[in-house]
Amino acid sequence: DKRSFRHFMHKEIHEQPETVALWVARHLPEGALVALPLDESVYEGVERIQILACGTSRHAAQVGAHLLEQLAGLPTAVFYASEFRYAPPPLEPHTLTIGVTQSGETADTLAALAMEQDRRFLVADPAYAPRLLGITNRPESSLGRLVPHLLDIGAGIEVGVAATKTFLGQLLAFYGLALAFAERRGGTAHPLGGGRTPAQLRELVEQLRALPAVLQRLVDDHDRCCAELAHLFADTQDVIFLGRGINYPIAMEGALKLKEISYIHAEGYPAGEMKHGPIALLDARVPVVSIAVPGTVFEKVLSNAQEAKARDAQLIGVAPACPDTELFDVLLPLPEVDELLSPLLTVIPMQLLSYHIAAHRGLDVDQPRNLAKSVTVE
Ligand code: M6R
Repeated sequence: DKRSFRHFMHKEIHEQPETVALWVARHLPEGALVALPLDESVYEGVERIQILACGTSRHAAQVGAHLLEQLAGLPTAVFYASEFRYAPPPLEPHTLTIGVTQSGETADTLAALAMEQDRRFLVADPAYAPRLLGITNRPESSLGRLVPHLLDIGAGIEVGVAATKTFLGQLLAFYGLALAFAERRGGTAHPLGGGRTPAQLRELVEQLRALPAVLQRLVDDHDRCCAELAHLFADTQDVIFLGRGINYPIAMEGALKLKEISYIHAEGYPAGEMKHGPIALLDARVPVVSIAVPGTVFEKVLSNAQEAKARDAQLIGVAPACPDTELFDVLLPLPEVDELLSPLLTVIPMQLLSYHIAAHRGLDVDQPRNLAKSVTVE
C-alpha cells in the first residue's frame, strides 16, 4: 500500500528515518558499543575482507570497505560479483568473504560466493578455509541457504525496483560490522593504518543514535528542494556526480539512481579524476552534482567544483550552508555530521533528485524499463 504517496519509491525514501530508528533500537543498546546477532567465530582471526556484490549493493559495499579500513584497520577489497566469478584474485589466508544482496537472489553474487566457497574447500590448510557472511533484506532467500552467517538488514519489503531503504539498511549493517571489528581489535589506531580510539568509537555511536531525527528533517527538507529542482532537468541529457573518499560511492549511487529511473545518462566520479579526461565533457548543458562534506577532502572537492564552474557547468552542491559553499548555484544543505557517517545523509538527495526528475518526466518510477527487482539470471 502506497499510503498517500504516488509511488512506492517515494514512500520507501520516506521510510528511511524509521529504518534507522529500528536499527538503532536493535543494535545500539545502552551500555554496549554495538550488538550484532553474529557468532564470535565470524570475527575471530580475520585479517582481511573481500566483498562481492552488484549494482547498488556494491556501492554500499564500497562505503563498507572504507569503514572497515578506517574504523577497524582491516584491509578490504570490493569486487563486482560478475567479474570476480571469472577472474578471482589469488587466495589469501584468514579472509572473510561478504556477499551483499538485498534480494538474496542475485545470480552473479550467489555464483561468486559459491565459487569462492568451493575453491577454498580444496585447500588443506585451515587458514584458507571459507568464511562466508551474507548481508540481505531477505534472510529466507537463496543467500540465506548458501552462507552460514547472515546479517538481516530488516528494512521491510521494498517494492520499487530502485533500491533506497535497503541501501540504507546495508550501510547500517556495515557501520555495525565495522564497529564490532574495531571493538574487537582493541578500538585503537591500528599500527598498519586505520582505526579509531574507543572514545572516538563511542562518539560515533552517539551520533548514530541521534540520526533518526536528523534524517527525518533532511528527508522532509530535501524532498521539497528536489521537487522544485526537477524542472531544471527537463531537457538534460547528461549529469555528472562528484564525491571523494567515503562519498565517492554515494556519487556513483546518485548516477545509478538517475540512470535507472529517469533514463538520463549520468556518471559518478571521484572528483579528483575529472581532470584526467571527463572534464572535457563539461559545458553549460551538463549539470554537476557535487558532494562536499567537511573533513579530509572538503577543500579538495570544493576546488574540483570550482573547476567545473569555470567550464560553465550548473553546480548543485550537497554540502553545509557556509561561506565556502557559496560557489554552488543550488545548495541542498547538509547538517553537521562526522564525515564517516555522512553517506547516511548524502544519499538522501541522490535518491530524491532522481525520484523527482523521473516523476516530473512522467516515467514509471517503480517499474523502470528493462529492469527487475531481482536479477536471477547471469
Ligand atoms: O538484490 P541485489 O541487491 O543483489 O541487487 C543488485 C542490483 O541488481 C541492484 O542493486 C540494482 O542495481 C538496483 N536496481 C539498484 O537500484
